[in-house]
Amino acid sequence: MNMVKIIEKKKSGEALSQEEIKWFVEGYTEGSIPDYQASALLMAIYFKGLSKEETFYLTEAMRYSGDTIDLSSIKGIKVDKHSTGGVGDKTTLVLGPLAAACGVPIAKMSGRGLGFTGGTVDKMESIPGFRTALEPEEFLNQVNTVGMSVIGQTAHITPADKKLYALRDVTATVDNFGLIASSIMSKKLAAGSDAIVLDVKCGDGAFMNNLDDARTLAKIMVEIGNSAGRRTVAAITEMGQPLGKAIGNSIEVIEAIDTLKGKGPEDITELALQLGGIMVYLGGKADSPEKGLEMTTKALKDGSGLAKLAEFIRAQGGNPNVIEDYTLFPQHSLAKELKAEKAGYIAKIRAGQIGFASQLTGAGRATKEDQIDLSAGICLCKKVGDEVAEGDTLAVFYGNDEAKISAAVKEAEAAFEISNVPTEPPLLIKEIIGL
Ligand code: URA
Repeated sequence: MNMVKIIEKKKSGEALSQEEIKWFVEGYTEGSIPDYQASALLMAIYFKGLSKEETFYLTEAMRYSGDTIDLSSIKGIKVDKHSTGGVGDKTTLVLGPLAAACGVPIAKMSGRGLGFTGGTVDKMESIPGFRTALEPEEFLNQVNTVGMSVIGQTAHITPADKKLYALRDVTATVDNFGLIASSIMSKKLAAGSDAIVLDVKCGDGAFMNNLDDARTLAKIMVEIGNSAGRRTVAAITEMGQPLGKAIGNSIEVIEAIDTLKGKGPEDITELALQLGGIMVYLGGKADSPEKGLEMTTKALKDGSGLAKLAEFIRAQGGNPNVIEDYTLFPQHSLAKELKAEKAGYIAKIRAGQIGFASQLTGAGRATKEDQIDLSAGICLCKKVGDEVAEGDTLAVFYGNDEAKISAAVKEAEAAFEISNVPTEPPLLIKEIIGL
């Protein structure tokens, strides 16, 4: 096969065959196809798109480019959950323990984050002692005994996606339906769970900023999952404003704990209960999503979700006392408030800008090599729909570097829009696909 011919073919809008896609993915992963040819193909794909079949072939080629995880030694139906990425999204830390408390085995691999905040793995590492690099046997045993484990994704899983994603990141080819869908689904399929719940974020702080695009992406991913024999459901959820009030690492874990204590923000509580309910249903522990929701709600109210979180933290070497004593988390030395310049109603809190501001505090990485400040981030004091008086605090910025915090406050100023007329909070769950 010839790379120039493959690029030409896609450039002229023709569909690539399964063999061509496999040959490209294997060649690029092992290094025989150079970055410049892969970049040209990605840009051709960006403009001409991928058909349903091509997206599936690309997913499969990346899925099998490295190790795949065998979860068959774990009893029960394993259900995975994935978010396409949002600001303040700590849902996994809430719904994981809730679903596990309802009897669904959670064997999850998560990534580190590039961008607004760390990923789930970085967030978990803000718990003193918590280990995210478990040996495979330890991981499987823990799911069988505790019901839940979350580990970092190893380099041996979908190496093709790792290499291609890094290239897409620097060639402006990330935001393409087929490329995003195949990237996410190759990792989910390689990670081995029997069923998958996808949280497709929609709005200013997400890859998809309108409902039509979010629906298109969700449908492609649900189809890929189901075609691969994994029951897959996608929820399209709001990401116009950040989820919950905390955006950072340790402060997001604290908010997740508060939520499991029944004291969390409404949106994160609702999302975790609903998506957790779908997981309980797909995991065969409830005979409908509604029954699943009843079960997750009970696990929140009776404290069994919180108890499961403590058990999971202890099993992975973390100090479970963090649940009662938040001073055990990494501490910031500085805090700065952003005040409302006028009275009115919060009409918008642009998630993208708040996310970038949170990165500026030190909570996120601009490059893979950057060190995260686990204590840094932003706590919102208001959400869309809230009434404010002039001088009210809109948000508090935390960290350990004065210049970084000042830059973050400046960035976030324009994220808030205050209107004279009352504004309704946006609909949290917009659509569910695949149920
Ligand atoms: N998340 C991924 O894992 N891949 C993408 O392409 C986009 C978001």
